[in-house]
Amino acid sequence: MISESSFAYVADLLRRETAMLCDPGKEYLVEARLLPLARSAGDADVDRYVARLRTGPDAVAERARAVDALTINETSWFRDLAPYQAFTDVMLAHLLQARAATRHLEIWSAACSSGQEAYSLAMLLDESLPPGWTWRIHATDVSPTMLERVRAGRYSQVEMNRGMPATRLVRYFSRVGSEWEVGAELRSHVTTAPLNLAASFPPMPVFDVVFLRNVLIYFDLDTKRDILRRVSPRVAPDGYLLLGSSETTLDLDDAWVREPAGRVALHRPRAAVRRSAPAAAASSPASALSTALPGARACTP
Ligand SMILES: C[S@@+](CC[C@H](N)C(=O)[O-])C[C@H]1O[C@@H](n2cnc3c(N)ncnc32)[C@H](O)[C@@H]1O
Repeated sequence: MISESSFAYVADLLRRETAMLCDPGKEYLVEARLLPLARSAGDADVDRYVARLRTGPDAVAERARAVDALTINETSWFRDLAPYQAFTDVMLAHLLQARAATRHLEIWSAACSSGQEAYSLAMLLDESLPPGWTWRIHATDVSPTMLERVRAGRYSQVEMNRGMPATRLVRYFSRVGSEWEVGAELRSHVTTAPLNLAASFPPMPVFDVVFLRNVLIYFDLDTKRDILRRVSPRVAPDGYLLLGSSETTLDLDDAWVREPAGRVALHRPRAAVRRSAPAAAASSPASALSTALPGARACTP
């Protein structure tokens, strides 16, 4: 098992690079994630691999690989269902009217993991928007491996079994070997970009809807507060933020008004406390300021 000092080094590295907390008790997880990397680097055990991370000739690149391997990427299609119900019934219902002039929507799947969230939203937009509307989904994550998976748009049968209805499987996917591949049309609306939520944000669009789900749980209170504070000006004044089912802005940040929608709470920016938003962003719909994120890459095959 990984030594105490190696574990402390890895936990500190992960925290510095992603803000993710890795408390004592998670040794088994670190060991399981790093052992394959240790083996492929030719190290007999994880302690030797951690020594390589500290001072090895390729330490910087190896540390990036280790951090990537340590991210927790649990996800599924239409995860928890209720947020997606609220997306079509409440958010899109409002935005169809509010964006009738521009007929364009900008959506951010922040911490997108392997892309099920972004493509679930893409299916709903494809099914819900009238002809003539345009839309873009920006899928970002700190893990390069996950972004590569979003671009590949390929999923195993086991992954498909986690929430993909048969009708949508038939409509949006084709079989490639033992995997299922998202169709080109849906993928043409999705771009990926690396983005560390814990670092300052690059120039980016103002979004109509932000899905920031099941990632704040990995951070400490100050980091959660800081991220929510910086996300607030990135949400259009009449747009929406959606968090995971166990996440909340309550007691963290007063920049949000909570609006119940079925079993979920939608968060809308509180106009009075919008901070450091670009001047135009505070009064414009997302589409007026549409730009791509730095390092954005298309998912089109
Ligand atoms: C549990 S998954 C959530 C995926 C998806 N949002 C969902 O709800 O199904 C958490 C994701 O957060 C990403 N992540 C962790 N720390 C991050 C950070 N500092 N910045 C951006 N993404 C991060 C991980 O790489 C992982 O893909």
